[in-house]
Amino acid sequence: MRIAAILLAAGSGSRYTASGGSETPKQYVQLAGAPVIWHAARALLPHVHCLLPVGDKARLSEVLDELDVLPPVDGGATRQASVRAGLEALAALPAEQRPDVVLVHDGARPYVTETLIHTVVQALADKPGAIPAVPVADTLKREHGGLIADTVPREHLFRAQTPQGFHFETFLDLHRAAAGTDATDDARLLEDAGLKVALVRGDEDNIKLTYKDDLMRLERLVGQTLLPRV
Ligand code: CTP
Ligand code: MG
Repeated sequence: MRIAAILLAAGSGSRYTASGGSETPKQYVQLAGAPVIWHAARALLPHVHCLLPVGDKARLSEVLDELDVLPPVDGGATRQASVRAGLEALAALPAEQRPDVVLVHDGARPYVTETLIHTVVQALADKPGAIPAVPVADTLKREHGGLIADTVPREHLFRAQTPQGFHFETFLDLHRAAAGTDATDDARLLEDAGLKVALVRGDEDNIKLTYKDDLMRLERLVGQTLLPRV
């Protein structure tokens, strides 16, 4: 089974900057001596046949310089459009390099483990899609006008992570048919098409850098593990 990964880096990181983080898009922020996206690429590379970065081509080429990745392609205005750009670039590869399955991973999520990647890939043996997710631990409140409106039952609620995995041809077809919509994760397109998507066990440490404070959490993790968690 040929596995490709799309590594997303075309976002501007607006929540990160607005929360007091740097102006630099968060995927390029330094973490333990290397840009966040470098850690993500290094973690994925041993487990995939090819890795395609999506975003600012010059910057990605520079940052991922010594890693064996495909030439980066430009992203789009939405996350979904960026995924589509990656899928079209993979579809344009020579037939023998065209993947059977594709993993889509956030460039701002640096500490993905081998275990998590394998769990997602294994679930694709009998499902067209699989995503890692962690159960919601806190009580959930809906707010209205600064007050509690009601309590949302947390049973059956999960937080979706990446890498999310899909059968390549199915996913490509769905993306082509859904052009112009804006799904914030990849499984959504399969859900809307009535296809089964496996939920596999996520990892609480598989943090996405979203707000400034997340960088401190990631730095603490590095401090604890000393070595990249690949
Ligand atoms: N992403 C992308 N293309 C976009 C939007 C997002 O490739 N048009 C990528 C981001 O670079 C990130 C991942 O999708 O790696 C997850 O998205 P998110 O955390 O929302 O990142 P941003 O959109 O950059 O951040 P924000 O929503 O705070 O602006
Ligand atoms: Mg975003």
